[in-house]
Amino acid sequence: MNFDSILPDNIKRLKGYVAGKTIAEVQSLYKPKQISKLASNENRMGCSERVKQAVLDSLSEIQDYPDPVAGKLRKKIAKMNGVKESEVLLAAGSESLISVICRAFFKDGEHAITADATFVGFFVQAGVRGISVNRIPLDQNYKFDVDAILDSVNDDTKMVYLANPNNPTGTFLVRDEYLKLLKGLPDHVLLINDEAYFEYAISNPDYPDSVSQRRDNVVILRTFSKAYGLAGFRIGYAIAHERLISEMSKVRLTFEPTTPAQAAALAALDDQEFISRSVDSVSRGRESLYSFFDRNSVKYVESDSNSVLMILESEEEAINFTERMLKLGVILRRVGAFGLPHCIRITIGKEQEMEHFMESFLTVFETSEKG
Ligand SMILES: Cc1ncc(COP(=O)(O)O)c(C=O)c1O
Repeated sequence: MNFDSILPDNIKRLKGYVAGKTIAEVQSLYKPKQISKLASNENRMGCSERVKQAVLDSLSEIQDYPDPVAGKLRKKIAKMNGVKESEVLLAAGSESLISVICRAFFKDGEHAITADATFVGFFVQAGVRGISVNRIPLDQNYKFDVDAILDSVNDDTKMVYLANPNNPTGTFLVRDEYLKLLKGLPDHVLLINDEAYFEYAISNPDYPDSVSQRRDNVVILRTFSKAYGLAGFRIGYAIAHERLISEMSKVRLTFEPTTPAQAAALAALDDQEFISRSVDSVSRGRESLYSFFDRNSVKYVESDSNSVLMILESEEEAINFTERMLKLGVILRRVGAFGLPHCIRITIGKEQEMEHFMESFLTVFETSEKG
């Protein structure tokens, strides 16, 4: 069979999403004394205690297809955000919603605009649909460059993808910058405002209140994968105008998210105390990492998410550093695929994981100075 002939060019060109190494892989490869997985922006504190029982209870319904509109959960999310139920759509994570958006709204020849360094899952899903993406360089503060994005919009632009806070930089557009982008976009351009790290940023008084400032062309994405600690369940939601939601729900796979995922999310929403503890712990972890980096003259970007970007001199240095840290059991994420090959993203973990990072960091640098 001529495999090449059956594949469209965009799929042949596509670089798929490469996930970070799992704990089991690192254990079997290097057998380190301790493993700290600081690579995938998960919640290292786990999830709310309430989730376990809710998931066990949901297993009695596992032979039945899930509620396709996730009615109970949708109602709760709508209420919490002051929107109508018809303005909320649940799916198997915000990456699934990005895929839905790419499939639902694009006509051939239309393109998207985003930053040159942002969530790689967007680049992958746009590539699957064959969408050409205009990647605008981040500004000097590692933020989305609103003026340059607005300048590059034309009649064929269908969408601007914004991650706010951004991954892998942890930076966000403050209220005025966000409003400038919102007001500057013509009606035919959708603004996808991916707020995967919303819970970490919301306490910052400059963070935009995107739900109350919503326009008809805006789709807000949120997820249970980060602060809620439910990445393994695959569940997230969109808030948008009901017409956009109804078109997106035609494209979404009918029965996502699963019944246990819906139950887990409902229970997790009821435990806001867990969210406060997680967010506080990340905020303390970020501060202690900044001090450590300052003491060791390491460059970094200050963040409002659950990760911090460390800036090195070159891609080679980044490869070297991550590999040596991996052998000591610290799993980190190089972010070349996200557009920053000389940088490393460090998820903020629990205190002992951050200590493991710092001790290993010193070991790596001491041995490289001697060598
Ligand atoms: C900005 C951003 N959006 C979306 C996602 C994916 O989230 P989910 O697990 O809900 O698919 C991530 C995960 O890293 C992310 O950083």
